[in-house]
Amino acid sequence: MEKVRLGIIGTGPRARILSRTYAKQPQLEIVAVCDQFEQNVQYMQKDLKEESGYGDIPGYTSYEALLKGTPVDALFIAIDPQDQVDMACDAMERGIHVMTEVPCAYTIEQCQKLVDTVERTGVKYQLAEQTRYWSFIRIWREMARAGKLGDILQMEGEYMHYEANWDYFVDRKNGELFYGSAVAPQGRDTRPTWRYRSFKHPIFYLPHTLSPLLSIVDDRVDKVSCFGSRMGSYQTPGLEVRDLETALMHTFRGTILKVSAGFTTPHGGRSGTWAHWYNVIGTKGSVEWNRSTLDKPKQYTLQDGWSEQDWTTEEQQADEFIKSSGHGGADYYPIDSFVRAILDDTTPPMGVYRAVETAAPAIMAAKSCERGGELMEVPNFRNK
Ligand SMILES: NC(=O)c1ccc[n+]([C@@H]2O[C@H](COP(=O)([O-])OP(=O)(O)OC[C@H]3O[C@@H](n4cnc5c(N)ncnc54)[C@H](O)[C@@H]3O)[C@@H](O)[C@H]2O)c1
Repeated sequence: MEKVRLGIIGTGPRARILSRTYAKQPQLEIVAVCDQFEQNVQYMQKDLKEESGYGDIPGYTSYEALLKGTPVDALFIAIDPQDQVDMACDAMERGIHVMTEVPCAYTIEQCQKLVDTVERTGVKYQLAEQTRYWSFIRIWREMARAGKLGDILQMEGEYMHYEANWDYFVDRKNGELFYGSAVAPQGRDTRPTWRYRSFKHPIFYLPHTLSPLLSIVDDRVDKVSCFGSRMGSYQTPGLEVRDLETALMHTFRGTILKVSAGFTTPHGGRSGTWAHWYNVIGTKGSVEWNRSTLDKPKQYTLQDGWSEQDWTTEEQQADEFIKSSGHGGADYYPIDSFVRAILDDTTPPMGVYRAVETAAPAIMAAKSCERGGELMEVPNFRNK
């Protein structure tokens, strides 16, 4: 195989942005696109033609029709995250490699199904989590491996992503998204979007926090306790979500994690990572991303005290098209490493165990929140 023939399922806003980046991966060819709504299929077909120099690509309105109509080696699935696991597992049972979008699962059963299917079929599975590829996260990982941070005692992360106009409702017949309103538009046959459903527990959206942090300590979460703000947004009356949830976690080797997520309460962005913030405290030093647009990333050592750092999200030596890919130049790397894993027959860097290790702690955190912060055990999926 010289090129991976990729089908894209779910041509919503996320996949539309990514398809332009994916089209630039030299060992990949997008051979078909699919969405349950014809207008979304046409949008991506047109976009690939006009922006990426593609010809007429077959488009389908069902997953089964795509598999019947166009041979593919791999699928990128970017549908409602709660629905991804069943489709991904069905495709893997047919010998097709799969990359899904974050979060990879919303229940422990889904995590287990994903793991069992990858183990049984032996095909490549990867989660398209990109923040672990930020340059400063690689630098922190290398510092940790080299012992420069000592024993890592605590790591913190925040994902505070406020938008005044999130899409809360979708038209059941044509997929049109309705932005900003906490109440369903009158006279339209709509249902709440996956965002509205998942924002009830914002802590579900932890992959962009846990994936980079756990990569630094090469560890997994084994215990979690979580509290949330009241059900019912303060900022947007009528919106039945929690504005913020905060979880305290413990890893197998003994690091403590403090992580927060919220999508519906205003919060100032940070240079480079915008909604995301991280810090790591070790026995020999600590590193910290900038808290706002007013400060810089920082490092502390006992010898030198605090110093400002010029760390960035983009890898400085990367090609310009990679640097300009979404999320501070990180969006290119998941597809690139997925394609390489298929062609070289290696394990993708964000394979199934690491993927579920970013989902299961969040799932147990949401359970803990509903039980008033009760301490919960997180299953170990590598147990067998
Ligand atoms: N990595 C990131 O930074 C990031 C950012 C945004 C979204 N996401 C993830 O990407 C995914 C998509 O996000 P989005 O904002 O585009 O969502 P969306 O709901 O707007 O789009 C999903 C698309 O999938 C289609 N779809 C749903 N079920 C389908 C099915 N069974 N068959 C065919 N098509 C189907 C819908 O019609 C829609 O067009 C989600 O899983 C989300 O969590 C990741």
